Amino acid sequence: MNFKRLAKELEGQEPEEILRQALETFPKIAISFSGAEDVVLVDMATRINPKVAVFSLDTGRLHPETYRYFEAVREHYGLKLELLSPDAVAVETLVRNKGLFSFYQDGHQECCAIRKVAPLRRKLAHVDAWITGQRRDQSLGTRAALPEVQEDRAFSTAEHPVIKFNPLANWSSARLWEYIHEHDVPFNDLHARGFISIGCEPCTRPTLPNQHEREGRWWWEDEAKKECGLHQGNVKGT
Ligand code: ADX
Ligand code: SF4
Repeated sequence: MNFKRLAKELEGQEPEEILRQALETFPKIAISFSGAEDVVLVDMATRINPKVAVFSLDTGRLHPETYRYFEAVREHYGLKLELLSPDAVAVETLVRNKGLFSFYQDGHQECCAIRKVAPLRRKLAHVDAWITGQRRDQSLGTRAALPEVQEDRAFSTAEHPVIKFNPLANWSSARLWEYIHEHDVPFNDLHARGFISIGCEPCTRPTLPNQHEREGRWWWEDEAKKECGLHQGNVKGT
């Protein structure tokens, strides 16, 4: 597979076409579903392959609504949604040493590394490519230059390169919601309560009118650092 040629071909293409090519090119591929509007990827991909692999990182700190939503999506699409748990000893050690809310004091990186990044690394060792719901309009600070296809340097090794597809890169939030309503896609109840971007419960809050969606995530931290390690390559100099 010529990755650079594929990336060039898929530049500016519609999400369905990017997904079709991704699933065709990589038999070992999985969608990373956060439990928010990236459900559109699941809807589109199951139309191409009803057995497409989908996983979510169960940090143990998600909202009850998100857990219910995972089950609603699992049922609606007849999916075997895989929930990945963090290493129990690593979580216990962090909580024993620093308590349950250390991220408010010393930043979210340590907790995210244990609850999100390590389980993701474990998963990506068994696929050749993954698909995310990232979009350019989600963050001017870190995602404005997001390509549709990229080599995922954060999770690749010399023996095992990992390709990352971002089929929704070019879509706006408004376009996504048009799709959700047009296709009767089930959505997380939290969206009806003012949440736009949805992550873990202690690190996500609803946004006010005209506030950018990213302001509801890790609001006590600097805009340019608001990537948790899943998408570390978006932060310049990393
Ligand atoms: S985050 O890195 O800041 O948390 P964000 O919430 O914007 O990411 O979501 C961007 C994409 O990252 C999602 O569409 C999804 O592909 C992936 N992602 C984020 N959180 C999770 C999660 N808990 N489980 C699986 N994938 C996730
Ligand atoms: Fe921990 Fe918050 Fe990161 Fe979730 S988003 S893993 S609770 S720091």
